[in-house]
Amino acid sequence: MSLATTPVDTHARILGIGSYRGSLIVPNADIIAAIDSSDEWIQQRSGIRERRFADEHESVQFMSVEASKVAIQRAGITAAEIDCVVVATVSHLLQTPAIATAIAHELGTDKAAAFDISAACAGFCHGVALANDMVRAGSATNVLVIGVERLSEITDPGDRGTAFIFADGAGAAVVGRSETNGISPVVWGSDGEYFDYIRQREDWRDVVGTPEEPGSGVMPFLTMQGSSVFRWASFAMAKIANETLERAGITADELDVFVPHQANMRIIDAMARSMKLPPHVRIARDIAEQGNTSAASVPLALDRMMVEGEARSGDKALLIAFGAGLAYAAQVVVVP
Ligand code: UT7
Repeated sequence: MSLATTPVDTHARILGIGSYRGSLIVPNADIIAAIDSSDEWIQQRSGIRERRFADEHESVQFMSVEASKVAIQRAGITAAEIDCVVVATVSHLLQTPAIATAIAHELGTDKAAAFDISAACAGFCHGVALANDMVRAGSATNVLVIGVERLSEITDPGDRGTAFIFADGAGAAVVGRSETNGISPVVWGSDGEYFDYIRQREDWRDVVGTPEEPGSGVMPFLTMQGSSVFRWASFAMAKIANETLERAGITADELDVFVPHQANMRIIDAMARSMKLPPHVRIARDIAEQGNTSAASVPLALDRMMVEGEARSGDKALLIAFGAGLAYAAQVVVVP
């Protein structure tokens, strides 16, 4: 026998984007002493001049709600019309329940489905892919996808390999029905062989320990084999980006905007070179003033380009993100 299906015949697109940046502006000068570094080294190696950290009130939930309110308002709908909330994050420190449920409630959705996904820096692009499929399949009408991180809390300020990179913020997108297709098929995957290139340093059980052998009691900070990730990203991700253009049925000449994960300015440049992007393609470079916000980096960078007029409604934008796992995902979207 065959069961009933949800009778929908629709495409999907991003209806609105919003973002929220941690309010503390932290220049390189403020962090170099703890890692025996210099402003010059950090700028040369990563392109970062300053980063945004959340203050004590700017929680994962708070930043998510602020970014979402903007995205919902720009989408021209109300929170009650959101029927699914997907939150991509690795830095919400209460493991259960999903923070998405609290965000859905605070926003005033009408009992929206709500769950978190863990795909690290690639989380937002994973969320957009899921939302696209949910809308087209009829499982949801308007999906709110949030990428949010408060990485300052899980970054060791004394670790030379990470302290100057990671930062805090949130980005949100409403994905809903559309007469024309505004989200291409996703190209995604994982290279689990490199599972430990970026990871939480210790298992929570090692932190807690046992009565006989107490644990460290220290926050299990992030650790990263930076140069290995750098080589992997610069080489493998340009290929994935080209494959994504192919799946979207467009050439690099037809692309308007390139929004790669804001991991390192040198990776962004290497990818653009390797893809031979024509000069008219505008490239997101939010990292210089924001740092690397993992799951939040793509929507933060895209929102900035829209606000500054570098990305215009109707433009075709290639989104690509990669990180711990090593997990990656990419799609072409039409800018709302
Ligand atoms: O968002 C998730 C995905 N993450 C990424 O894509 C990050 C990818 N990786 C990177 O962005 C880069 O690897 C970093 C920016 C993290 C580091 O840059 P690098 O060019 O790969 O530096 P390195 O680790 O190869 O170190 C080069 C040199 C070493 O000195 P020697 O051996 O050449 O004398 C390090 O000891 O720089 C030294 N070094 C530092 N010097 C000043 C390492 N860290 C620092 C530091 N300040 N913080």
